[in-house]
Parts: sequence; structure tokens; C-alpha cells
Amino acid sequence: MSSATTNIESLQAEGRIFNPPDEFAEKAHIKSMAELEALRAEAKADPEKFWARFAESELHWFKKWDEVLKWEPPHAQWFVGGKINISYNCLDRHLGTWRRNKAALIWEGEAGETRTLTYQQLHTEVCRFANVLKEMGVAKGDRVALYLPLIPELAISMLACARIGATHSVIFGGFSSSALVDRINDAQCKVVVTADGGYRRGKEVKLKAAVDEALKETPSVETCIVVFRTGSQVHMEAGRDHWWHLLETVNTDCPAEELDSEHPLFILYTSGTTGKPKGILHTTGGYLLQTHLTTKWIFDLKDEDIYWCTADIGWVTGHSYVVYGPLSNGATALMYEGAPNWPQADRFWEIIERHRVNILYTAPTAIRAFIKWGEEWPLKHDLSSLRLLGTVGEPINPEAWMWYHRIIGKEKCPIVDTWWQTETGAIMITPLPGATPTKPGSGTKPFPGIEADVMTRDGKSVGANEGGYLVITKPWPSMLRTIYGDDERYQQQYWSQIPGVYFAGDGARKDQDGYYWIMGRIDDVINVAGHRLGTAEIESALVSHEAVAEAAVVAKPDDLKGSAIVAFVTLEGGRIASDALKEELRQHVAREIGALARPDELRFADALPKTRSGKIMRRLLREIATSGLVAGDVTTLEDFSVLEKLRSEEE
Ligand code: PRX
Repeated sequence: MSSATTNIESLQAEGRIFNPPDEFAEKAHIKSMAELEALRAEAKADPEKFWARFAESELHWFKKWDEVLKWEPPHAQWFVGGKINISYNCLDRHLGTWRRNKAALIWEGEAGETRTLTYQQLHTEVCRFANVLKEMGVAKGDRVALYLPLIPELAISMLACARIGATHSVIFGGFSSSALVDRINDAQCKVVVTADGGYRRGKEVKLKAAVDEALKETPSVETCIVVFRTGSQVHMEAGRDHWWHLLETVNTDCPAEELDSEHPLFILYTSGTTGKPKGILHTTGGYLLQTHLTTKWIFDLKDEDIYWCTADIGWVTGHSYVVYGPLSNGATALMYEGAPNWPQADRFWEIIERHRVNILYTAPTAIRAFIKWGEEWPLKHDLSSLRLLGTVGEPINPEAWMWYHRIIGKEKCPIVDTWWQTETGAIMITPLPGATPTKPGSGTKPFPGIEADVMTRDGKSVGANEGGYLVITKPWPSMLRTIYGDDERYQQQYWSQIPGVYFAGDGARKDQDGYYWIMGRIDDVINVAGHRLGTAEIESALVSHEAVAEAAVVAKPDDLKGSAIVAFVTLEGGRIASDALKEELRQHVAREIGALARPDELRFADALPKTRSGKIMRRLLREIATSGLVAGDVTTLEDFSVLEKLRSEEE
């Protein structure tokens, strides 16, 4: 990252701080630094009162809470005793207003077909499907797995589950059948909703086939509902599998359940430092409040806006900022199913021009890909409808920030660089576009009501511009409540590394102005193209192959994807390293987890370098992967004996 650092310094030296344009600030929800600072001060003085103020004014409650926050560290309950339904907040409450006939979702398929659902229509679809789920025996508290392409039925299924108090577990369509097995079994899902297939770069992704494979090993699943999407031939198991469209005759009257504020809304699996993905559990009232308020203020949503978050709903960004945040605000959200460069490198810009998109929220990895494909693509299109740009998922290098600002934003759109995580549920560190002066590469400061810090491992705040661990020091409404089925791991992973504070797993520094600069993961989690993967997860996929004895996976910097995956593998006796085996192992990982986890590079080794106590020397492997040191040709085994002398240093 040294070139990025130099760049940040030179940008700062040049005084490159970008103030919100006056015409933007005048009309923004939060119009000035003074207003933002006043909100921060209010929240700091009495956080519970601050959050309660907006829970009351922004959300619909069937019954008001008795207690704003019950904090029994590290367990928080928000709006205890309150009764609420997120599906009601996203749909029903708009029906009594003119928004009834407003577009809630505008969907575009990869092949170019579009579908628009108004709030009224979405409500009808959600109620109908909620009744289908009930007929299938789904009751409050049951878990439902959703394994779908980015089509409206995914949002409909989520809202239908939420409506009846079933907990959804969305599994990204890029995950393989064995990843499905782990996730379905961990949550003991009763129903799986899928599609025959989806489209990606013109090719069909066969989802139902993956589900068929998975369901051989998931005894909890009684029913599988299949959306007719691609029309390809699929196997339908009598008694278990049902077509979505054939169930559509069910009645559309389905009042939203009055649920406890702490009722489990969803489980979303994410990678951690062990081989097993963690089921992050989010509940209802607090999650909705923070998602709603962050969407409103950070994206400065106006009723006339077309808002587009490009994330797949399979990730947390899609949950909070494609579905729940925008719909709760009564916004018009665009959903696009396919790849950014299909059929050509200007698909995003074409979509923005065609739908007159006003707000674009995407990932740095996409921006870097657009830079590589060339500015002629966006320059061919009229992007003048854009008024606000956002990024999420990984640090944005200042060069990419500047390109986004100049080429896409035409130097008139504020950029919100938003830091958060699956675990935080909603955005935590971010500019507010009408108020915060931005510095390219910095997420600026915490959202009002969020208390963050940068600390040493023993819990001391570090000084300005010193690196340390990013922590959150107070509970926040949309925080994860636990790891599903493993509360001990929740406590140990997040609240014990530095006792008493939430440990995010990211390195960071705060500059002299109190602006946060996120440096990336400091644990064994790799961020590949904005997708989070655990090295241990990929390693256990590799060692599950009969030819592999041991595996170590590290990240190396990659211009486009942020990080690339490099695997070092030792083979079982008698197995011969070859290009064919290398390819087989890469494919094996794709089968075990999904194509997103396939190692970019796989290197065979005689033995892995270890400390005397037997720990793999990852730092060393990272250096080797990055520098190419001890490189051999593809079939030559790495010889780590030359590194023996380093062992003592590592210990
Ligand atoms: O390392 C941070 C990075 O993404 C991680 C969270 O990944 P995930 O749970 O998959 O959620 C991604 C979308 C919210 C963080 O620990 N990250 C996320 N946003 C940023 C970021 N790193 C730097 N800047 C960001 N804006």
C-alpha cells in the first residue's frame, strides 16, 4: 500500500479535502457540519435518548418499548417490550399514502428485461408468499433458506419471512452445494426457496441442481419452492418440490405479525478465522432503526430519487441497502441481476442513463475494474442524473476515489465511503454527504450515536496517526446479537480480544482531524473483490481433497480485487505435483465453497514453513506470495529449507 500512502499524503499536502457542494448541502437532510456535530453531541450525551427519538419518529410500532436498551455485556437488547414488524414498516405503512403507487423495486435482468413493482404490488406479492409459507407449515421462529438469483422473488421471500416471523438465511447464489449443506444444517432450515437457475455473463447458473445435491444431506428441509426463471430442465421431487408460480393462487390477506423488537430477523453466514462460517444473527427493531436512519441520512434519500445499490442481496449490503433500508424509507430501489461488463463494459453506465439513477452505491473493486476497462465507456453515456456516489466493502485507494469523483461524479457528486460489516448490520463510519468534508480514502467519522476508537491490543487508545485495532466501544442498535448456536464464540471472537469493546478485526488509524483510515483485516480473513473469505475455510476445503496433506492460504495484494488468494499445498506421499493436479485442486475449492474462493495461485511445497511450536509461518508465506521469492515453475515443489534460518526470528 505504499503508493496509496504516498498518494494520500500528497493529496493532503495539496489540501485535497472535498467540501459538500453548496447546492447539495442546501437540500440535504443533514445540511452542515454544525448540524451534524449537534447530532453527535446529542447522541454522546444520551445515546439511548437519541436512538429512541428516531425510533419513535421514523418507525411504526404496534406497541412502544418499555426499555430502550438492556445492556448485559456483551449482550444487548434494544427497544425491549416493543412490538414491531419490518415487513409492515417496509410495505403497509406506505399504502395509506401516495407512495402506494410509487415504484418500490425496478428490476433489470441480465438479458435486459425489466419488471417494476409498486409498493401496492410488492405488498400483494409478499402477503401471498407469506401465506404460501404458512401453508407449507412455516411458523414463527422457523428458519427458511433463500438461495436465489438477484430477482424480485428474493426480496419478496425475505419480506414474507419477516412478515410471519420466520428467520431467513440468504445464501449467496455463488456458493456451492456443499456450502449450502453447512449453512442449511447449521440453522436447521425447514424450507429452501430457490430458482431453476440464474444468469451470469450470459450463462446459466444452475441453482436447483445445487440444491438437489445439498438436500441429500439436509434432513431438516421438508419443502423446496422453485422460481421459474430460466426455464431449463430441473428435477422436481414429488411431495417436496413445488413451483412458486403454481402456488400463487393462495389468498393475499396476511396481516403482519406483531413481533418482539428482539425477534430474530435473519441469519447471514460470514467467514471468520476458523474453518466454519459464522451465522451472524440480527434481530428486528434495532436493526431496522439503524438501517433506516443510515439509508436516509447517508444516501440523502428523496422521494423522487432512483437509488441503486449494486450489491447482491446474498451479502449484508444487499440486505440492509437493497431491501430493508430503502423500502423502509419508501424509496425506489433498482436491482440489477447480472455482471457489470455484460454484454459490454458499459452496462452500469447504460443502466444509469436508462433509468436516470440518482444515487449509486458500489464497491471499490468494481471501480478499479471500470478504470481498467477505460473511461471511454462511462464517457459514452449521460450520467448527469447522478447526484451522490457511495462505496463499501474494502478500502478505496485514493486513485480510484479520484476517478470515481471525476469521471462518474463529474466533480459535483459527494462520495460516501462507508465502513461497516455483516456483524454491524448497518453503516458505522461514514461521511454525511451534505455535511462532512471528505478526504479520498477515509471513511471520515462514526455516524452519530456510534462510538468507535483505535486501540492497542491491551485496550489503550492510540495517538493521532498511530496504527491500531478498530473497536466500537458502545452497543449500537443494529449490532449482531450472537453467532447462531455458538454464543461462546460470539463472546470470544468479538468481545474478548480487547476486553469490554467490540473488536472489528480491522486495522485502522485516526488522523489529526479524527478521521478514520481503515487499513484492512488484521486477522486471517481475506477480502477478495469485496467478498469476505476465511483462509481457514479455504484450507479445510483443500485438505478435504485426498491428494492434499497440508495447506496454508494467504492473501497477496491485487490491483483489481484488493487481495488475491495464494495457496501453498503439501501432498500426501506418492502423489505427484502436476499442472493437472493443481487445476483439480483449484476446482475442488470452487466445488467445496464456490468459485469466489478458488485460489488465484496454487503452489506445491515439500513442507510448510513452521515455527518450532508448529505454527505455520503465515507472515513469511505472505511475503513469499507477494514478492515471488523462492519461485519455482509450476510443477517444482517449493523448497523452504532456505528459510530455515528465519524460524528463530519468527518465534
Ligand atoms: O475489512 C472491512 C471491509 O469489509 C469487512 C466486512 O466485510 P463484510 O462483513 O463482508 O461486509 C462488507 C460490507 C459491509 C470489514 O471488516 N470493509 C467494509 N467497508 C469498508 C471496508 N474496509 C475499508 N473501507 C470500507 N468502507
